Amino acid sequence: MTSPPEITDNLSICNNPIVSHNISVLRDKNTNPESFRAAVRRISQILISRAFENIPLVKAGIETPLMSTEADVIDNKAEFIIAPILRAGLIFSEIAMDILPLAKVHHIGLYRDEKTLKPLSYYNNLPNSFVSPSDTYVYIFDPMLATGGSAVAAVKLFTDLDIPQENITFISLISAPEGISKLSRAFKNIKMFTGSLDSHLNDIGYILPGLGDAGDRSFNTHKPAGS
Ligand code: PRP
Ligand code: URA
Repeated sequence: MTSPPEITDNLSICNNPIVSHNISVLRDKNTNPESFRAAVRRISQILISRAFENIPLVKAGIETPLMSTEADVIDNKAEFIIAPILRAGLIFSEIAMDILPLAKVHHIGLYRDEKTLKPLSYYNNLPNSFVSPSDTYVYIFDPMLATGGSAVAAVKLFTDLDIPQENITFISLISAPEGISKLSRAFKNIKMFTGSLDSHLNDIGYILPGLGDAGDRSFNTHKPAGS
């Protein structure tokens, strides 16, 4: 893949053989929906573990069977939000919920208008405010970061509620340079994790080489040709 001109320090591309292999499984047009979802889950475990490295820890006294000790535990002042962008972010977020069961899950319903490529919002169940925005950590999941329109709209929902950009992480399977540039220009201090930085977008906004439509491939909703 070619290096884009404007890639930020806040982007981590996950160089992991399990991620790379399973992204190739996703790219293959002959991969069926069941195998597609299984590959998404395998990649998600690794990407999410990396993305969760900013979770704050504190020391707590515990008793092992042998002695008292000071151990690292998740800071109970912190609040965690898992935010899947519907539809395709759902599989991803199921893995995140297993790893971080104390997180709250706020679904974000967005779809991209096929003609304008602009995101249209159809659902969000965010609260009107967060008790302590600076102690709130947000993880937004969407497999595809293409033009970046959906990602910018999703991040803005949280910055509008005073969540600091530094506490927001956007996690994708595949990104286009165009989407990374748009998101990092809009929000300089958010973190981004992706499994692959692909080449570019085609003239109808699909990532190349990409994997096609992530929602349709996950949920077996390909429309018959000509419909
Ligand atoms: C896909 C994808 C992202 C969006 C990315 O969703 O899951 O949400 O497109 O495109 P962008 O970066 O250009 O905004 P889609 O709109 O196809 O909805 P779906 O998941 O319901 O199929
Ligand atoms: N949405 C997808 O599902 N795939 C793309 O390549 C771009 C947007």
